[in-house]
Amino acid sequence: MEYKNIIVEKEDSVATVTLSRPKALNALNKEILLETLHCFQQLALETEIKAVIITGAGDKSFVAGADISAMQKFDILEAKAFATLGHKVLSTIENLPQPVIAAVNGFALGGGCEIAISCDMRIASANAKFGQPEVNLGVIPGFGGTQRLPRLVGKGLANELLFSGNIIDAEEACRIGLVNRVVEQDVLMDECRKLAKSIAAKGVEAVRFCKEAVNNGFEMDLKRACEYEVDLFALCFASEDQQEGMTAFLEKRRPEFGK
Ligand code: CAA
Repeated sequence: MEYKNIIVEKEDSVATVTLSRPKALNALNKEILLETLHCFQQLALETEIKAVIITGAGDKSFVAGADISAMQKFDILEAKAFATLGHKVLSTIENLPQPVIAAVNGFALGGGCEIAISCDMRIASANAKFGQPEVNLGVIPGFGGTQRLPRLVGKGLANELLFSGNIIDAEEACRIGLVNRVVEQDVLMDECRKLAKSIAAKGVEAVRFCKEAVNNGFEMDLKRACEYEVDLFALCFASEDQQEGMTAFLEKRRPEFGK
């Protein structure tokens, strides 16, 4: 598939996906959603890619939400199809075998905030702004905001953002746990790459199992989730990385994973 609205770069086992519709502050229409879906479905199959970064083009916006001009004339069925596509994209990101870092480089509003929340980790630049302003448009979030935001920051704080449509800055987002940390914009991508590369250097199965344990465990009660962790822990012992990691420790050397 030829991409017109996203840019994909691959370097040192890390893929960077840049959402790029600069004229609309990278707002999400059907085309960019379909390209993003295709891209992440492909990345899921690329075992040489060990971590993914998603960001927005330019220095003003990560993603300013779903495309309002595309949605304005939707009927009920079109709205349902659009939200279903958005959910498919975000759950593909969320369930990608590789960890995904959101490099939030500006506005992360509506669908943009929802994309960031579907990632495993978020690093924001100091100028980033977060919010679910859908109520200002007479709608509710349609790409998972009412579900993932309360799970991430708690119900009370999520409700305030969802019901008021208030926009918060990066520091406030960090304070409530919506982002992991805030850095200056000129070092945002370096910080994200550094984190991605440090993850890529670990045992690939161990990182994948961690992600599976956290994501799937969240949907279970604690007892079942802990049993699930036990099974994944045991499965690690079928991997060469476990042998290498423990042997390297005992031989007092750095492990060489993926050999
Ligand atoms: N959809 C379509 N176009 C958008 C857009 C969006 N979500 N956000 C920005 N744009 C366009 C603007 O229309 C404008 O285009 P023109 O130059 O052709 O007029 C261009 O991007 C630049 O935007 P502004 O001139 O508005 O820039 P600004 O700096 O003054 O304001 C902003 C920036 C605060 C992000 C403002 O653009 C804004 O409020 N955007 C809408 C944010 C929003 O409501 N997002 C939620 C969308 S609904 C949603 O996402 C539902 C869901 O969950 C699926």
